[in-house]
Amino acid sequence: MGKIIFSHSGEEAEVPDGEGIHEACEEAGVPFACTEGVCGTCVVEVIEGMENLSPPTQEEKDFLGDQTKERLACQCKMKGGCVKLLF
Ligand code: FES
Repeated sequence: MGKIIFSHSGEEAEVPDGEGIHEACEEAGVPFACTEGVCGTCVVEVIEGMENLSPPTQEEKDFLGDQTKERLACQCKMKGGCVKLLF
């Protein structure tokens, strides 16, 4: 089981290992639209714990380029541990 901390509110959510973080993020207020990694609506900044998320998908690489802090929340899966996000 992994944990997401939303740094603006201090809110925490648990996400089972291997599951997408989409639902937990949506409940915390992250906006979503396409959920397919195309529109960029769900972009979040990873403050801590990037290593605890699945590697960027091709869609994320296409949309976000080479930067190392941002992810598309609809594309990320939890690997375990703790991830701190800002949106
Ligand atoms: S909801 Fe469109 S990229 Fe994530």
